[in-house]
Amino acid sequence: MAIVFTVSSNFLVSLPAEAATDTYVRVYLEVREPIALELNEQGETKLFSTEDITEGKELFKANCINCHVGGKTLPYPPVSLALDKLSGATPPRDNINGIVNFLRQPMTYDGSEETFWCRTVTASWMPQEQIEKLAAFVLRAAQKAPGWAEDNSEQF
Ligand code: HEC
Repeated sequence: MAIVFTVSSNFLVSLPAEAATDTYVRVYLEVREPIALELNEQGETKLFSTEDITEGKELFKANCINCHVGGKTLPYPPVSLALDKLSGATPPRDNINGIVNFLRQPMTYDGSEETFWCRTVTASWMPQEQIEKLAAFVLRAAQKAPGWAEDNSEQF
């Protein structure tokens, strides 16, 4: 049994790109082809594929969901991952670089000092390419996911 399982999970990993995407990402986040997300406050954008957003979702699930299930912030509900919360932070976090900078060195909502409540994501843990996919998932979910950051949300 163990051998069969190992073989089949290797097989899953090597499935073509289409299968590596996720129904949630395609249906609820409406990412069926590469989408342009804001990279910075100047309004430059960067393209993210369905696979990128799927990978971001997996990273979120593995590392963030305990505190941020459904886009909420369980330890501190006022600072949720809702789009209006992200955009209202100083500096704004409703763009890829804003989220990445925050995760590299989490700051309080007004940007005045470091906060130790969120999880710091170091460059040795997640290189730039990966952390951008994580940020892209958070941003897209905040823009599109039904019930994201609402009290009754059961999705993530
Ligand atoms: C141990 C709980 C915990 C974990 C794990 C965690 N966070 Fe947080 N996160 C928080 C808390 C608490 C805050 C609010 C911090 C503050 O304002 O002082 C926060 C704030 C944030 C914000 C800012 C939200 C806003 O509206 O400005 C983002 C973005 C964020 N977290 C993303 C993540 C991501 C992505 C991960 C996974 C790598 C993660 N967090 C892991 C607890 C956590």
